This record gives sequence, C-alpha cells and structure tokens, in this order.
Amino acid sequence: MEKFYIETYGCQMNEADSEYMASVLLSVGYQASQSLEDADIILVNTCSIREKAESKVLSFLGRAYPYKKRNNAILGVCGCVARKEGENLIKKAPYLDMVFGPHHIGRLPDFINVVRRDNRKVVEVSDKSEIERDSSIVVPNGLRAMVPIMQGCNNFCSFCIVPFVRGREVSRSSDDIIAEIKHLVAKGVKEVMLLGQNVNSYGNDLGIKNGFLSLLEKVNEIEGLERIRFTTSHPKDLTDELISAFGRLDKLCPHIHLPVQSGSDKILALMNRRYDSATYLKLIEKLRNMCPEIAITTDIIVGFPGEEESDFQATMKLVERVEYDGAFSFKYSARPKTKAASMSNQVPEDVKQRRLEELQALQKEITYKKNRALEGKVLPVLVENINRRNSKEFSGRTPCFRIVNFSNSSPVQDLIGKTVNVKISRGLKNSLKGEAV
Ligand code: SAH
Ligand code: SF4
Ligand code: F3S
Repeated sequence: MEKFYIETYGCQMNEADSEYMASVLLSVGYQASQSLEDADIILVNTCSIREKAESKVLSFLGRAYPYKKRNNAILGVCGCVARKEGENLIKKAPYLDMVFGPHHIGRLPDFINVVRRDNRKVVEVSDKSEIERDSSIVVPNGLRAMVPIMQGCNNFCSFCIVPFVRGREVSRSSDDIIAEIKHLVAKGVKEVMLLGQNVNSYGNDLGIKNGFLSLLEKVNEIEGLERIRFTTSHPKDLTDELISAFGRLDKLCPHIHLPVQSGSDKILALMNRRYDSATYLKLIEKLRNMCPEIAITTDIIVGFPGEEESDFQATMKLVERVEYDGAFSFKYSARPKTKAASMSNQVPEDVKQRRLEELQALQKEITYKKNRALEGKVLPVLVENINRRNSKEFSGRTPCFRIVNFSNSSPVQDLIGKTVNVKISRGLKNSLKGEAV
C-alpha cells in the first residue's frame, strides 16, 4: 500500500485543504505517513501571505528531494504558492512532479496516475467558480473539524495577496455544508470551525441576503454538534444581526477573531480596510454588550508603508484599550501585484522589528493578565487529548478557545470527547491549568 506525507504551511484554509487531500487519498486506498522517509507521495501545501512563508517552500523541497530520489516518490506542490507561481515552480525545482491549485484537490488521484503511468508532469492551477468537494469522503482529524464555507476574497486590502492567489469569493451551498457537518458529527466531531476569508459575506455571490446568519442558524440545529466557531470576520461586514447571534445561538462559542490590522485611521485608509478605528471600537463594544464573556482576538500588521511612529502608537493605544485575548502580529511584507508594494515610504526593517517587539510585549502582558483573571473560575472544557507534556493530565479548550491542561482526581477514565467542568487554578502565559470538579 502506498503512503503519503503532507506538509502544511499557512492559514486554517490550508489546514482544511490538507485534511481534504488526505481524505481524497485515503478514499482511494493510500495510507497516511507521519514522516517523509517512507512516503511514496510527498505533498506540500503552501502559503504566500508573506515573503517568509513563501520561502519555506523551496527549503522544504530541498529537504524532501533526497527522499523523493531514494524512494522514487512523487513530489507535488499545492496551495497558494502553486497558484501564484504555476509552471515557474518547475523551472525552479525541475524534479517536481505536480503543481496544482486548491480548486483541483479532488483530482489528485488522476494527477498521480498521470505522473506514474504517463511519466508526465502535472500543472493545474486554473481558477474555478465552484467548490468541488465530496463531503461524504471527508475524514475528520479529531473532535474539531474545519469546514470551508467559501473560497477566495473580494476585498483587496492593499497589502494582501490572497485575492490574487485564491480568486474571487465563491460560496458553497448551505446544503453541502450542512451535509458535511452531519457526516462529521456522525464520525465523532463535536466542534466545527466554519472557514472563509470573510465569512460575513458568505452567500453574497449566491444572491442570499444575510447568508452567514442563516447558515449559522441551520448549523446550530444540527443534533450532536456541540460547538460552533468561525473565522475570519471582516469588521466592515460585521452586522448587528450577526453580533446578536452571540446572544442567541446556544452552540456558537463566545469567541471572535476580528482582525483590526492597525489603530491608525490614516493607515486603515491606505490599507483599504473600509472602516476607521472608531467604527471598529464600536463593534467591540456591541460584541461585549451582547456577550460579556466573549474572547476577542485579532491580527495586526506593523510597518505598513507610511506608518509613522504616531500611527504605530495609535495601534498600541487601541490594543491597550481593547485588551485582546490574543493577537497575531506581523511585520508588513511587500507582496507582488498588491497596491501597497508600490507605495512610497516603505518602513525600514529595523523599525518594523522594533515595533513588532513592542507590540508583542504589550499583548503578552495583556494575555497573561486575562488568563490570571480566570483563576478560581469553573469553565466547561471539551477534552481533546492527553497533555503531550504530562501524560497524567488532559488537555482541551474552553468555549473562549483557551487551552486548559487539567488533572482529574477520580480514576482515570476516558474523558476524551466529553465536556468537563474544570476549576482554573493558574493562568499561565499561553494556557490555563486546573482540576476537574
Ligand atoms: N481574511 C483574513 C486575513 C487572512 S491573512 C482577514 O481579512 O482578516 C491573515 C493575516 O495576515 C491578515 O489578517 C494580516 O494581518 C496578515 N497579512 C496579510 N498580508 C500581509 C502582508 N503583506 N504582510 C504582513 N502581514 C500580512
Ligand atoms: Fe486579504 Fe483583506 Fe481579503 Fe483578508 S479581507 S484575505 S486581508 S484581502
Ligand atoms: Fe497563506 Fe493562502 Fe492562507 S496565502 S494565509 S495559505 S489563503
């Protein structure tokens, strides 16, 4: 039986695509391998969001090449770098066998046949206006499943390459999505993460009004499903109706990822984000009024072209004011084809680095403070596995998505998949510690 190995970079969309690739290969009889060494098919799912992410591809190919040669394995690149570079990738790495885009994952078995039987290379990176996904073959990887509800993006934030590599917004039909979630629940999934670059515009291309809200309502009805999350929301499209869902839908977890990118109105305008800081702060207020315990996380870019010290300080102020539960922050990276790449006043690397460190230090303090504030509280934890670092402990997540490691004084029974009330004894920098009650 032939084995496959998949390396995944990038966002949750890529993780979901990799899971689907694995499902497709499993469905036709291949076996998963945890290492490159014994793989007959080696795939790398790539990201081009920042230059650094993209450079990982060539170094991975360098690492994979000796195994490819030794085992006569098939080597393929998919994902966003495949879409961006296409045939060029084969020029850079002539030993590559396949380059294919996220729209063509379902054809992977055919691609493999072409390489093996016809001894030809495959390059298939074309765009598509529908999402082809056979829900019935999806094999979940644990209790939490990622379910893509749409592909692509129409927003063209001036820094972002995603609209160029993922194409325009295409929504899956809600029947398809519901069928997939029901199938996953039957296989033991308790929690779904609905995925899209901007889930708030789900259904716009299908001509459905308030599509995302009605999708959430339908998902909330699925029996056996316990938790619903979604990512990402664009602040410009976060409606009052959607905010009200946090007060209304019992399975919707109190957690929202709401990327702000910058606290400076000048920079937000240059970024083409189409909201200002006051509008954003108003959304935060509404979310917290609707659901006081809601965890709010964000993405921030430092060093966008033209960002002056005062702009950066506006970002720091906003972060202090919102007190995010967590934040991903990045140094601006100029990406081909994007508007921002040709803007003047690019910020020097050392300034970006300093700003990133300052921002991350601030957020670290806030996250720690928020975690400590939970000490003494009892929280429902969906148990996902045994703690990797301490086999006597279990590990799971709170509704707010915080990781909790906890001990269980009663005889060790199989808690995995159950929701257990845990009393938090310590808030740490990146997780919580506690005891089952
Ligand atoms: N669709 C999501 C974001 C997807 S990309 C949204 O709009 O919220 C994830 C994050 O990467 C972005 O939120 C942004 O903070 C960061 N990012 C995107 N392009 C970048 C670039 N050129 N340089 C640095 N960070 C970038
Ligand atoms: Fe990129 Fe903006 Fe689209 Fe997000 S909304 S994927 S940041 S263009
Ligand atoms: Fe990267 Fe593509 Fe996601 S560029 S962030 S893997 S959509």
